[in-house]
Amino acid sequence: KTSNHLRHVESMSILPSGAGRISRLNAVILGESLASEEDDLVFPNEAFSKQAHVPSPQKYLEMYTRSIEDPAGFWSDIASEFYWKERWGPLVYSQNLDIRKGNVEIEWFKGGMTNICYNSLDRIIDSGDGDKVAIFWEGNEPGFDGTLTYNQLLSRVCQLANYLKDVGVRKGDAVVIYLPMLMELPIAMLACSRIGAVHSVVFAGFSAESLAQRIMDCKPKVVITCNAVRRGSKVIYLKDIVDAALAESARNGILLDICLTYENESAMKREATKWQEGRDIWWQDVVPQYPTTCAVEWVDAEDPLFLLYTSGSTGKPKGVLHTTGGYMVYTATTFKYAFDYKPSDIYWCTADCGWITGHSYVTYGPLLNGATIVVYEGAPNYPNAGRCWDIVDKYKVSIFYTAPTLVRSLMREGDQYVTRNSRKSLRVLGSVGEPINPSAWRWFFNVVGAARCPISDTWWQTETGGFMITPLPGAWPQKPGSATFPFFGIQPVIVDEKGAEIEGECSGYLCVKSSWPGAFRTLYGDHERYETTYFSTFPGYYFSGDGCSRDKDGYYWLTGRVDDVINVSGHRIGTAEVESALVSHRHCAEAAVVGVEHEVKGQGIYAFVTLVEGIPYSEDLRRSLILTVRNQIGAFAAPDKVHWAPGLPKTRSGKIMRRILRKIASRQLDELGDTSTLADPSVVDQLIKLADC
Ligand code: WT7
Repeated sequence: KTSNHLRHVESMSILPSGAGRISRLNAVILGESLASEEDDLVFPNEAFSKQAHVPSPQKYLEMYTRSIEDPAGFWSDIASEFYWKERWGPLVYSQNLDIRKGNVEIEWFKGGMTNICYNSLDRIIDSGDGDKVAIFWEGNEPGFDGTLTYNQLLSRVCQLANYLKDVGVRKGDAVVIYLPMLMELPIAMLACSRIGAVHSVVFAGFSAESLAQRIMDCKPKVVITCNAVRRGSKVIYLKDIVDAALAESARNGILLDICLTYENESAMKREATKWQEGRDIWWQDVVPQYPTTCAVEWVDAEDPLFLLYTSGSTGKPKGVLHTTGGYMVYTATTFKYAFDYKPSDIYWCTADCGWITGHSYVTYGPLLNGATIVVYEGAPNYPNAGRCWDIVDKYKVSIFYTAPTLVRSLMREGDQYVTRNSRKSLRVLGSVGEPINPSAWRWFFNVVGAARCPISDTWWQTETGGFMITPLPGAWPQKPGSATFPFFGIQPVIVDEKGAEIEGECSGYLCVKSSWPGAFRTLYGDHERYETTYFSTFPGYYFSGDGCSRDKDGYYWLTGRVDDVINVSGHRIGTAEVESALVSHRHCAEAAVVGVEHEVKGQGIYAFVTLVEGIPYSEDLRRSLILTVRNQIGAFAAPDKVHWAPGLPKTRSGKIMRRILRKIASRQLDELGDTSTLADPSVVDQLIKLADC
């Protein structure tokens, strides 16, 4: 009865142990070269394993097996640790992932009535932790900080929740949040969930146009923002961006009554802020007047919790919808196990709440565990490359979760910025956003973690809600660059182009075989797109969009996106979105965008641009094209390179051959492959000639 997958996992139990561990670890620390990446094992130290939630492969296997053979029992035991106003119905979960059998529908704990804000705050307070610090907030400027205990956080959340109710926000209404990493950002998320409103956080690096697009899609009752923020040495005027977005939505018939604006005094005084009387309201003028208690809106486990837009392979962002009960259980559980969380830990995740990482692992997962979190407003290298380690020492951070791009950029600055601080509080490190290259892994492990701290390289997605493939620290040896094994309840499969499952050592497309509590339930307003994007490529499975291989020991190695999505500094950007921004420029006739390897960002954005007849290439035009992308999407989507293209390589049917463009972009000119099927093979030579213009 054991599934194929379980058999791969069983091979773990034969991994070597004992004395061999130490010598192997030494070899790793000394940087001795090993035969190959997959033979490169980094063993947990025994003291760590002993105290870990999951101390051995055997323990994992036991729990994992149960989670697969009895998902209902496994997850309802965990769900029972939370507060439910009413327990869920007879069916713990129901799912159909197979579009050939009908609509894809996933439900967990349906009929159960709960509230994620209550479980994150009131429940923690009721257990006696009301005076525990919930948030250590660190401002952009060193020395500028603040603290909130669980009691204080709840009061703040209730005041905002009461305000929102008072202005007419009801269960099921959307609220758009466009805030930087102030305490008010998690406060706003929790206030929404307390009253059953659906929050949609938009990363404060998105442009006015992107914000408008999201506002027009989800039609919120209220937008919550602040006037400005300092990031590094720059000041960003967020309220101006919101004003432009609201004007754009108004032009399209979506009118908003309320723009609640937090006065972020350290960046900008209210007197200097542009203001629309009647619509704009200062947070500080209204919210503190409301009572510090607020009744909870009990919601069904399947009621929506939030919407978060993410990029896909078309120009239109997708509104990923997560519901309440399953997401709550899943983020809390993954947080606890993947970081081996203990109540004495101080946890810092460097992600912004504008991305899924900030939803699941800044806000909900940690708070549901009663954790103390660090929220940092500023840039990680400000005022210098040692800031992260100053923060680690200042708050005695024990779990530090970040992205490979930050690891690589700090690695370039030199070890002295790290080693000048003690970092002795660190216990577990984490990585997310893209595959972490082994050399960055090693630096993170040896230099940052002083070879003491396991690294959880967590593979997951906006859509998955929480970790899918991740090390459990202390449970098994790591391999730098591998996300290792599936989390409880997750059955990853690797399929070939035809959608047939491949076993054993192999590579192919990464899919998931059955649902898990944290899975997204739909794309907002477009269930059909949900089904075609994720469930029709390989019928019967959820398709992640990632390539993956599995080695002889059953370890999973993610190899990057296989669709038209680029991963820049751990941010997902659709090539089609950048292309449509470029072609909106009046001088641009056509554009094709591909990803290229980038030393720090992982991937960079490389744009081939064909100009309108008669328009000459110029440096000004290049700048103006890049500006167009910044204005339409956000600075993080700006192309790193614009390649002038008299024509693009197309098949006779007019399809752009990106394979060839990728090779030209990465200058792998001897690997162009067959170009004879092109409508006009000579465009390739022209492109190569213009490569370094
Ligand atoms: C895509 C999801 C999940 C939070 C951050 C990004 C890539 C993410 C890893 C990892 C290899 C990773 C994948 C995935 N990715 N984490 N540990 N190893 N690849 O969320 O914007 O939804 O992007 O990020 O390609 O599909 P996202």
